Amino acid sequence: MAALAAVQDYRVLARKRLTRIASDYLEGGAEDLRTLARNRRAYDALLFKPRVLTEVATVDAGVRVLDQTLAMPAVVGPTGLNGLYYPRAEEALATAAHRAGLPFVLSTASTSLLEDVRRASDGELWLQLYVQRDRGIAQRMMARARGAGYTVLMLTVDTPVHGVRDHDIRNGFKMPLRITPRLMADVMTHPRWCMRMLRQGGSPQLVNLARSTGMTVNLAAQAAAMSRQMDMSLNWADIDWLRAHWPGRLLVKGILSVDDALQARAVGVDGIVLSNHGGRQLESAPSPLELLPAVTQAVGSALTVMMDGGIRRGSDIVKARALGAQAVLLGRAPLYGLAARGPRGVTEVLQILRSECETTLRLLGCPRAAELTPAVFQPGWEERL
Ligand code: FNR
Repeated sequence: MAALAAVQDYRVLARKRLTRIASDYLEGGAEDLRTLARNRRAYDALLFKPRVLTEVATVDAGVRVLDQTLAMPAVVGPTGLNGLYYPRAEEALATAAHRAGLPFVLSTASTSLLEDVRRASDGELWLQLYVQRDRGIAQRMMARARGAGYTVLMLTVDTPVHGVRDHDIRNGFKMPLRITPRLMADVMTHPRWCMRMLRQGGSPQLVNLARSTGMTVNLAAQAAAMSRQMDMSLNWADIDWLRAHWPGRLLVKGILSVDDALQARAVGVDGIVLSNHGGRQLESAPSPLELLPAVTQAVGSALTVMMDGGIRRGSDIVKARALGAQAVLLGRAPLYGLAARGPRGVTEVLQILRSECETTLRLLGCPRAAELTPAVFQPGWEERL
């Protein structure tokens, strides 16, 4: 096998290793995948303006975000149902993130308990929160995360309902996985995936959510039902309710307009994540990169602005940081590593991104990530974005 050089190589291998149902869930997006494609295209529109002979012997990709030191401007972002790719997936992601000097954000829809992830990693852990109609679930989840030393809460607000994902409908995707003839055929052609699932005792379960429901019988099935019961009455006034239960830093993830960024600042959150959920929610949404300059200009330095969507190269991270994002979230990229080669695949993907980041900084003639500005782009970049 040829050496794996780039995130894309892990993506190709991941597709081979995974069943169709798992691979479609990982890769897929909403409706006709326009937003998914737009996320990637946005990076292509930006051209660098390298400065030469600037002394680049030492390079420093590190930045400070929310009083934490990141080895590069990136965080391993929240993704649900990771047990579809590998046993104890969240433990592996958190451990690799820590090794890479990055925080890890655990999803509400994780397939490992937040306490188990804490035991596996001494690194910075953040919790992503979905709020169900029964607010007690979120309250218990926050209390557990506080007790386990999670430092940042990331409220995801772009998911009152799931986006329209044709592939999941076609595949009959449901948690826990149901054995259908279609899944059986899928499994037969992917014995390696089958072995991984058997090692974790079958279909991955939403154990983290289940632990907070306070229910005792058939926990996973009930948690799956819970996951479809998002609180659609959630609104800006509820930030006060969250604050009462979460003394740490609070971010809102899923902002896609200057107006909402200003609203977030007005209600006093610590930061926002510009995100279209990796193109999986609203079709024809803008890409976060396109919005970054206007948003950072509007909110000023009072708010930490992060973004995600389509990060597959170190140069993508550099572009986002230069346009004003404090850091990006990595969604699918670490999962490609995990699905392709297990825990060491995650470490390798994070190493590749860090190394590409450092190479880009050197070739740009701006060896410190903390000093990136839009001056690293060719004149007229605003019109091209
Ligand atoms: C996600 N995302 C997500 N976001 C969130 O807040 N909670 C979640 O449980 C999930 N689950 C999830 C599962 C999968 C398989 C994917 C691909 C994504 C969205 C995620 O945090 C992030 O916004 C995007 O993945 C970023 O885009 P890229 O990097 O995947 O292109």
